[in-house]
Amino acid sequence: MDKKYEILDRELTADDPWRLDSSRFERKRLTQMLRLSLSQGIITNALEVGCAAGAFTQMLAPHCERLTVVDVVPRAVGRASKRTNRWSHITWIAADVHQFSTADRFDLIVVAEVLYYLSDLAEMRKAIGNLVGVLVPGGHLVFGSARDARCRRWGHPAGAETVIGMLNETLIEVERLQCRGASDNEDCLIACFRKSIQPDCRL
Ligand SMILES: C[S@@+](CC[C@H](N)C(=O)[O-])C[C@H]1O[C@@H](n2cnc3c(N)ncnc32)[C@H](O)[C@@H]1O
Repeated sequence: MDKKYEILDRELTADDPWRLDSSRFERKRLTQMLRLSLSQGIITNALEVGCAAGAFTQMLAPHCERLTVVDVVPRAVGRASKRTNRWSHITWIAADVHQFSTADRFDLIVVAEVLYYLSDLAEMRKAIGNLVGVLVPGGHLVFGSARDARCRRWGHPAGAETVIGMLNETLIEVERLQCRGASDNEDCLIACFRKSIQPDCRL
């Protein structure tokens, strides 16, 4: 594992990493992500990027025929797979989103609070290219992130607005919402995109 991900590995030793289970704001955010994920119809083959300890994996899994989960930190894969071990239709991959490859194709991709961990805008673009490449024509991608200003204050290269701009270069934005909580840190954008069914259109 890259040194820069050691801090994530440490965070993943907490009982409830990032308070995804216990914070009211995080529950509301994950519920909105699930709503957008389910709003486009039946999910045959989904990909979740960045599973943490499996809070969202557990919500999404019962709605998919097949689900692949990718996380750069093996501890995240270990915790999320243990939490969801009642299901046998989940495939686990420990890999970096900007480097991983698969022959599989997905009709839904969910990537939230992940891309700002990449080193720079070039890596973010590479990750987006990877994800768009494995999305079937007509498939949907649900993206979520804290906003640009907040991410930069946390020391990350960019956040929601920048990535939404990049995604709009190749995908069609279907819906966007803002999710806010009581504290300054609780402010993110969630957006749903569709890939054109015409191969030459916008790609
Ligand atoms: C803050 S948690 C977000 C969890 C969940 N997606 C959510 O929205 O609450 C970030 C997760 O992304 C993973 N992650 C960070 N950088 C990654 C990368 N380059 N490739 C794959 N996973 C990554 C971390 O290990 C962690 O499990």
